[in-house]
Amino acid sequence: MYENAFIGHNLDIAASLLKKGEAVAIPTETVYGLAANALDTRAVARIYHIKQRPSFDPLIIHLYDFDRVHEYVEAVPEPLRKLAERFTPGPITFLLKKKDIIPDLVTSGSSFVAVRIPAHPITRELLSKLDFPLAAPSANPFGYISPTTAQHVADQLGSKVYYILDGGPCEVGVESTIVGMDEKGDVEILRKGGLSVENIEDCVGKVNVREVSTSNPEAPGMLISHYAPKVPLILGDLNKLIIGANPEKTGVITLRNFLPHITTKHQVVLSPSGNYMDAARNLFAGMRYLDHCDLDVIYAELLPETDLGVAINDRLRRAASKS
Ligand code: TXA
Ligand code: MG
Repeated sequence: MYENAFIGHNLDIAASLLKKGEAVAIPTETVYGLAANALDTRAVARIYHIKQRPSFDPLIIHLYDFDRVHEYVEAVPEPLRKLAERFTPGPITFLLKKKDIIPDLVTSGSSFVAVRIPAHPITRELLSKLDFPLAAPSANPFGYISPTTAQHVADQLGSKVYYILDGGPCEVGVESTIVGMDEKGDVEILRKGGLSVENIEDCVGKVNVREVSTSNPEAPGMLISHYAPKVPLILGDLNKLIIGANPEKTGVITLRNFLPHITTKHQVVLSPSGNYMDAARNLFAGMRYLDHCDLDVIYAELLPETDLGVAINDRLRRAASKS
């Protein structure tokens, strides 16, 4: 174990550690990932160990290029191929029937593997230097808020990873949207994320969207309590929630405007102009910040359920479900 991780920009260091079977934190456009050689069971086991992640929660593999997916999966259903053509590299992950080359530990024993082509230029360059895909979950302890800066990773996993490849703050800020095919042969969204339902439907027509559930064996990462701060987070109408609140001990997450009575430094305004892309980018950093402000409670409001508001609300609901 290390005293604290290096945060740096050196792709050669990152690549050589990965080739040796070590885990390295990497930037993606969604959130930072904790990466290791997806074809090496021992390297993959390191990820589960560092994250304290239960082995029933499978990992996403990251490839440079969708064209190489056939080395790792049996087939790509036509609608998913269409989505890949349109939206990769980008914040979308595909569930596909795996080939034997993918270790069972990556998929938690499932015959399907999750595949993503990340868009971050630094990680793309890293992938281009490797002859194996990278298995990478979000680089946070299991159940906590995903990291959107290199410093977030260092704050929580710094003693357990040696190198964090710094790619600046994540552009998208929420995890990728996970898509697969359901039993009827229709496209299904298993996790709402950085690519909107509207964008996906614009490409392949109407899709099914799976709602959050506590017992969903096909998507263990959809556990209802996830992405959660330690301070209780409560959702509702902010103007009502803050009545009688202790102004020094209450945190607030709002979309556009500061509220009266609550200490300003305990208020996270996601996007003063009401832009959902900005709001998604700021959400996890805002939750983390408030979690360190010595508060009794965090109040937050849901956004309209359109565009990235859908993914933001999903994360807020899961963050609130512990409370
Ligand atoms: O944006 C992202 O997807 C980020 C970046 C780092 O790429 N990664 C990420 O990974 O969010 P993670 O491990 O935090 O979430 C992966 C989730 C799992 O919890 C599970 O719900 C789903 O992806 N998943 C992965 N493999 C699966 C499989 N074989 N079958 C069903 N669900 C799977
Ligand atoms: Mg995660």
